[in-house]
Amino acid sequence: MLKILNIIGARPQIIKAAAISRAIKNHFSDKIEDVIVHTGQHYDENMSEVFFTEMGIPKPKYNLNVGSASHGVQTAEMIKGIESIIFSEKPNVVLVYGDTNSTLAAAVAAAKLHIPVAHVEAGLRSFNKSMPEEINRITCDHASTLLFSPTETGISNLEREGFKINAKMPYNIDNPGVFHCGDVMYDNSLYFSAISATKSNVIEKYKLEKNNFVLATIHRDNNTDNPVRLKQIFEAIIKINKDYSIPFFIPLHPRTSNILKKNIGDDLYNLITINKNIIIAPPVSFFDMIQLESNAKLVFTDSGGVQKEAYFFKKPCIILRSETEWVEIVKNGNAIICDADFNKIMEAWKLFYSKPDLEYLQIFGDGKAAEFICNKLVETFI
Ligand code: UD1
Ligand code: UDP
Repeated sequence: MLKILNIIGARPQIIKAAAISRAIKNHFSDKIEDVIVHTGQHYDENMSEVFFTEMGIPKPKYNLNVGSASHGVQTAEMIKGIESIIFSEKPNVVLVYGDTNSTLAAAVAAAKLHIPVAHVEAGLRSFNKSMPEEINRITCDHASTLLFSPTETGISNLEREGFKINAKMPYNIDNPGVFHCGDVMYDNSLYFSAISATKSNVIEKYKLEKNNFVLATIHRDNNTDNPVRLKQIFEAIIKINKDYSIPFFIPLHPRTSNILKKNIGDDLYNLITINKNIIIAPPVSFFDMIQLESNAKLVFTDSGGVQKEAYFFKKPCIILRSETEWVEIVKNGNAIICDADFNKIMEAWKLFYSKPDLEYLQIFGDGKAAEFICNKLVETFI
């Protein structure tokens, strides 16, 4: 039996872990023991618990309850907690997702104890080291023994950093295995798409009209913490809402709601809050999110995951960042990088509003990335 320590902490990791836990339950229950560790990086009910209930993720065996803190304090608490669990559980491999502080902490704790790390979402790069996530993902990739990249671009990025793409077994930290496997988030979107349509009433609850609203999410620190950027994003939202009479639905990350009024100023804040067609809501569940994404006219986001899900559901996307790791969707014309620039957002909106012919190629795998990953874990470590 292969024992994996499955490390989650932030919302998108809980969602990604659902695909792995499902694959283990359905196909690998006699081969893999899944020990889930929640760092507690995200802790509000609608940022954590809701996903376990809705997506059928097994309850974590451990919750470190680290909560929110500065990068150093948060990451240090996680390393301390994960190290102690590694001592007691003696896992064969530590599985990590994405690029958050929980990912970094687990990779550092495991690699220093000579426990192999398997990284889901390896190879993604923004080439912007002012992003905490870029530091986390580079460090994690270079401490990993198995690297699972969702895209071809991820594989090229790793090759450029010196990884051997065709390394042979036995894999270890000095001879890591690199695999192109598709995206576990695509697995989830396919799997939960039909179920969410029967379980979610978010469209009715907020009286949204199908194909006639914009879904927006904003949580990236360089947007939330920079008043000039945050203001431009909301000024563009107000302008489009007014000129095109199209409602916006904005399920807001707590980081953003905590700072919105202060950073956009009272005037803009009041304009938004009195406008019934700009709906600011608390974070929604994954089923609600699928319904929102699949029924929106267009998506505005600075989220990595939401950019991809917009693509999965064939919706054009305005990316509120200066670059993206998901370069394929931009190259294909399905998404436009607008930064937090009012004029760029308006130009991209006009282009997408004119209904260009967009093709959504199948570039995120076949919906079986999680099975591929479990297979490789078994092949490598049993
Ligand atoms: C983290 C990740 C980011 C990821 C995002 C997903 C890092 C460095 N960043 O950013 O890559 O895109 O998660 O959502 O790991 N808060 C709450 N309740 C919660 C969680 C957070 O109120 O349940 C508030 C706190 O005020 C906290 C702030 O949000 O200080 C930021 O949370 P944190 O986990 O530090 O970073 P995120 O911005 O969520
Ligand atoms: N998501 C959700 N509810 C929300 C906003 C996002 O379920 O209110 C989901 C979304 O569908 C995607 C994931 O959270 O699967 C993306 O996480 P987030 O935007 O927090 O982080 P990122 O992907 O940028 O790291």
